[in-house]
Amino acid sequence: MQEASPTGPVQLASEAWWANVLLEHFGIAASLTPLDGEYDLNFAVHQEGTRTHVLKVMRPGCESSLIEVQCKALNHVAAHAPEVVVPRVVKAHDGSHFVSARDQDGEERLVWLITNLPGRLYAETSPQPPSLLREIGATLAKMDRALEDFAHPALGRSIKWDLRRSGWVRDAIDLIEGDGRREIVERIISEFEGDLLGRLTALPTTAIHNDINDYNMLVDASTGEPRLSGIIDFGDMIDSPAVAELAIAGAYAVLGQERPIAALAALVAGYDSVRPLSDEELALIYPLVLTRLAVSVTNSAIVKREKPDDPYVTVSEQPAWSFLETNSSLPPDWVLACLRVSCGRPGHPRADAVMGWIASHRGRFAPMFGRDLNGIPVIDLSVASPASPRNPFDLDPDDLDDAVAEAMGDSDIGLGRYGEPRLIYTGPEFRKTPYAGSHRRTVHIAVDVFIDAGTEVRAPLDGVVHAVELRTSPLDYGGVAVLEHATPGGDRFYTLYGHLAADVVTRLSPGQTVVAGEVIALIGDRAENGGWTPHIHFQLGLTTLGRGADWPGVADPDESAGWMELFPNGAALLNLANKDTAAVTVATETVLPQRKKRFADNLKLSYRAPLTLLRGYRQFLFDQYGRTYLDGYNNVPHVGHCHPRIVAAAARQNRLLNTNSRYLHPAQVEYAEALTSRLPDELSVCFFVNSGSEANELALRLARAHTGAVGTIVMDAGYHGNTNTAIDISPYKFNGPGGRGAPDWVEVVPVADPYRGPYKGSDPEAGRKYADHVRAAVERIQARDRRVAAFICEIFPSVGGQLIPPPGYYRHAYEAVRAAGGVCIADEVQTGLGRIGTHRWGFETQGVVPDIVVLGKPIGNGHPIGAVITTPAIAASFANGMEFFSTFGGSTLACVIGREVLRVVDEENLQAQALDVGTFMLDGLRGLQDDHVIIGDVRGSGLFIGVELVEDRDTLKPAQKTASYIVNRLREHRILIGTDGPFDNVLKIRPPLCFTREDGSHLLHRLAAVLREEPCRI
Ligand SMILES: Cc1ncc(COP(=O)(O)O)c(C=O)c1O
Repeated sequence: MQEASPTGPVQLASEAWWANVLLEHFGIAASLTPLDGEYDLNFAVHQEGTRTHVLKVMRPGCESSLIEVQCKALNHVAAHAPEVVVPRVVKAHDGSHFVSARDQDGEERLVWLITNLPGRLYAETSPQPPSLLREIGATLAKMDRALEDFAHPALGRSIKWDLRRSGWVRDAIDLIEGDGRREIVERIISEFEGDLLGRLTALPTTAIHNDINDYNMLVDASTGEPRLSGIIDFGDMIDSPAVAELAIAGAYAVLGQERPIAALAALVAGYDSVRPLSDEELALIYPLVLTRLAVSVTNSAIVKREKPDDPYVTVSEQPAWSFLETNSSLPPDWVLACLRVSCGRPGHPRADAVMGWIASHRGRFAPMFGRDLNGIPVIDLSVASPASPRNPFDLDPDDLDDAVAEAMGDSDIGLGRYGEPRLIYTGPEFRKTPYAGSHRRTVHIAVDVFIDAGTEVRAPLDGVVHAVELRTSPLDYGGVAVLEHATPGGDRFYTLYGHLAADVVTRLSPGQTVVAGEVIALIGDRAENGGWTPHIHFQLGLTTLGRGADWPGVADPDESAGWMELFPNGAALLNLANKDTAAVTVATETVLPQRKKRFADNLKLSYRAPLTLLRGYRQFLFDQYGRTYLDGYNNVPHVGHCHPRIVAAAARQNRLLNTNSRYLHPAQVEYAEALTSRLPDELSVCFFVNSGSEANELALRLARAHTGAVGTIVMDAGYHGNTNTAIDISPYKFNGPGGRGAPDWVEVVPVADPYRGPYKGSDPEAGRKYADHVRAAVERIQARDRRVAAFICEIFPSVGGQLIPPPGYYRHAYEAVRAAGGVCIADEVQTGLGRIGTHRWGFETQGVVPDIVVLGKPIGNGHPIGAVITTPAIAASFANGMEFFSTFGGSTLACVIGREVLRVVDEENLQAQALDVGTFMLDGLRGLQDDHVIIGDVRGSGLFIGVELVEDRDTLKPAQKTASYIVNRLREHRILIGTDGPFDNVLKIRPPLCFTREDGSHLLHRLAAVLREEPCRI
């Protein structure tokens, strides 16, 4: 056991002394370093710099049987379960497993030697994913199976870490500081002393390790996926029920986990897959996990009394307390359901009997509303329903009324689905934390019937009133009743009727019998039903969770598997088929192969586990289960996904007219005026197109028309679009996979990268020096008897790695280009319209005015709009007789949307917000850079941010794999960011501008956690 000793510090002995003993008895010449040990001395044995063995020197007076049992058990496991990696016992010269040797004080000590196992401690492994826990569970089961026929007299000894002896904790509870904490332990131990101990001792016993804690498991994470590499320290072995092994391991498996019950379920499933657990064993696991943690924190309290000044004790008990404080009152039925489901069993032991009986009586239950419900309209309240809620963070009850009324049409009754993920549950009581992007409960685990307030509700079958209540909080059940029923075989189950009229509390009382078809309540109106559109929430339960009528009606999608087992689809009780009430949720596994079949391979998906997204709102996105994702990546929804003003403007215009630029419409000129008024005076003529690519194509045509030349200078790693000519000017594409190099009219200059490029940010002349490459490119063009048409680049290179060119670069570069007769094109597709915070446009930061500005993506907030804005002179050169027309470019709809985007940016002060939040983020990221050497550079302006990861801050070797790891891990934390740069080693953070400081600190907090994980350590 790792918990510190209450008996005081162990006696120290010199490494040299024991090295001599090792040589004398085992013939091994080695150096020793001390390891942690509670009562005994342990030494790591190093031979030629490699750790080969562990030398164990027992405390004086240690009984030899305690070593003998360990040696024999290790040999037994090695012989009977060779796939379970445990240390090998090395025999001494005399052939024995252990020898006796004197220590420096002349005391006899037993000494033995075992082989060293590879890997780092589980306690130091991060993350500890479900795959690892599953493997641990399976390995423990193999070990326990191997130990089934192992016997030794020492296994019968009495130790305080025997789970059956946990009652000793009661005498020490007073040492625990804090009333809340004492109560937790008190409650757990009372339950243990209740029926738990008796049930545990009724189980057969077998030899178990009995101390699978986080310091006794070794993990190898060198190949990416962490794998268990060994189990050590068999010093607490006893004969005990095998479930204790799993419960002890479980007590450590849950610590520090974001989803502790899922972690426990993975461990248990692994165990069950090798050594199937009985229903009783499964039921005992979680209560025993709690018991073990109660023992552990009580032991810490004892040690604290002994060593009041040892901060380590408080630190080491913290994970156990934090688990107990947040999880010790989780409903045990739900935890058990999760464990059972993970082992492929029905979530509740009575499930098959109850559901079988109900299904066989479908069609014979009394109609709840005195009528047949088959064929009534179904109301879609899923994530993909745009009707309700309009704001997924703040339900307007009128939205729901409207959605229901619209779906019901002429019908006076409608069905709401079971298992449907919905965004209508917007109150704080549905969220895990106050943060808007927090995990929340979305999955409806009941069936709804929408019908007028005042309608009579009848019991579908005989029952007894279990609970009746008026729950008056907003969005709660209002009037609610629970009936208890039993199958003819005596299997109990329950039905809940929520959102009833308040008078249900006078109609029914607990213990009252009701018969099938009897009116038990009336449907409540909004004033008495929690504030909802009138309906009944009808929920079938295999348990009441011991909570009367306080059942959860909605579940977190990540936890819904367990909840749906306890509260299954009650369609049969409404005489409906299950499919009539079951949710229809888009499955990523279905869409993915369809997509692969219909699209080419080079249409890429983000993330190893691709996301299906059905809804967006401001800086958040939602998947089909209603899980919220913080969008730190998408710059196209500049003012926010589905911004209500943009949605409204588009909807309004769609109802009026959407035609092309060949007709007059005030929206076109208004938009053009609004755009040009935000640009330098010289840039006064607009062309509207549909994409950044099309805009860059057009910009090149303008440049060529104006200069009569074709020579074009581009910046390395630049990207300007997917059309033929856009690719021709995009080194990111033509020099990338599948590219065919630069065409002969294109000259590439180095990317002006102050971190990785030839001239660093610290060089005050870096801007000019990079610009000299532009001058040289001009000369190369001229040397080929060509003239310069244009210099085009992303003002702040984005795919190049979120870069900010050094000051002076554009002034010098533009001078060189213009001196050669060329024009300067600024691609502001990524950076324009306030993103960089300090200025509206990137070029303003360097005090230059381009001849042509190209805009795209964000200006339409998702609507396809591209724009080219230039000088009257260049526009005149282009107007050479050939008509310019882009069918959708400058459509009425596009202009209305574009105009509204400009207004929203100004009216919501989004540029200032980008500066404020961006500065906050950059500061936070620089703080992380101080702690993590892998962060080579943090750069950016406003909400245009890059974090460059390197394996070595001197050689700048790109840490591309780590970047990909971080992005995928953050996706698991439900935060979207991307990677970019020529080596894909730059974290790209580029959210919608409505991103807040709270979002930023959430991102920083999660990023910090991921950076502490194994794959980010160098
Ligand atoms: C800087 C830059 N220019 C142009 C484009 C092309 O825009 P679109 O994809 O709208 O054609 C992109 C797209 O990523 C871009 O980043």
